[in-house]
Amino acid sequence: MEQKYKDIMIGYIAGIEKNIRKYTEDRSGNPAQNRLTEAMRYSLEAGGKRIRPVLVTEFCRLCGGSAEMAAAPAAAIEMIHTASLIHDDLPAMDNDDFRRGRPSCHKAYTEAEAILAGDALIVLPFQIIAEDTALDGAKKARIISDLAASTAVTGMIGGQAIDIDNETRNDVDEENLRYMYSLKTGALIRTSARMGCIAAGASEEMINRADEYAKKIGLAFQIIDDILDVTSTTEELGKPVGSDEENNKTTFVTVMGIEKAKEEADRLTAEALDLLDGFEDSGFLKALTNELLDRRK
Ligand code: IPE
Ligand code: IPE
Ligand code: MG
Ligand code: MG
Ligand code: MG
Repeated sequence: MEQKYKDIMIGYIAGIEKNIRKYTEDRSGNPAQNRLTEAMRYSLEAGGKRIRPVLVTEFCRLCGGSAEMAAAPAAAIEMIHTASLIHDDLPAMDNDDFRRGRPSCHKAYTEAEAILAGDALIVLPFQIIAEDTALDGAKKARIISDLAASTAVTGMIGGQAIDIDNETRNDVDEENLRYMYSLKTGALIRTSARMGCIAAGASEEMINRADEYAKKIGLAFQIIDDILDVTSTTEELGKPVGSDEENNKTTFVTVMGIEKAKEEADRLTAEALDLLDGFEDSGFLKALTNELLDRRK
């Protein structure tokens, strides 16, 4: 399974990265626009783990869809996620100068260019899906609506707003954190799983099951991210460790300690694995789920 899992992962990532390059081609001929495209690609091509587009692609396959059907929503989610990282690193937010193993977008380019690169990477995905030829109109409308709700006030951006607000407060409890994580991190992971199913034309039951699974791994994913911020190294993570403490963040680690936080991630992962039994041929997803729990970055 181990080698087979890695081979499938490599194949998925190669396809996703090829599509991202295609979707970000710039024929404007204008130097400022060219530089904006360069900044977008700089962050996109730095090489993240690509978990979200892989989830889109694999759920689409599990529900009987083709790679072509998953292509646009997979590229779209990685762009919105990358935009969230570019903006998350800005001085006004987490103020981190290192991301995906290289200087953050606002360090390699100007702060203004990083803001604009993030803006473009949030909007371009909706054009890509709207113009896609592999999906019919009804699927595209549903995917666009789902992706927008998971990105804006009811999704990632709303979660980031709570995260920033929490920095100024000392009454942040576990309930607040669970809610904030379900938005800032959970929303994009859940829409990844759902969009893959929708693209394939899956039943509502399948979409809901994928969503339940993604809800669990989404929370586990952010808990592990919190733990790595205190246990890893900047070199291994590719982003600065100790950022949460520096920004006065309340995290699962500050609320319950590393050990209890890890137990919570273990519990959520076990529940997520159980939910995968509802899908035929879920070996790859099970391996991925375990890998996310044990990840070093
Ligand atoms: C980082 O996401 C931000 C969180 C939601 C924790 P990833 O850990 O998926 O970052 P990349 O895409 O691999 O760089
Ligand atoms: C991740 O929160 C949420 C988003 C970027 C939307 P963090 O601030 O913990 O992410 P990292 O640790 O900087 O990747
Ligand atoms: Mg942050
Ligand atoms: Mg951050
Ligand atoms: Mg973090």
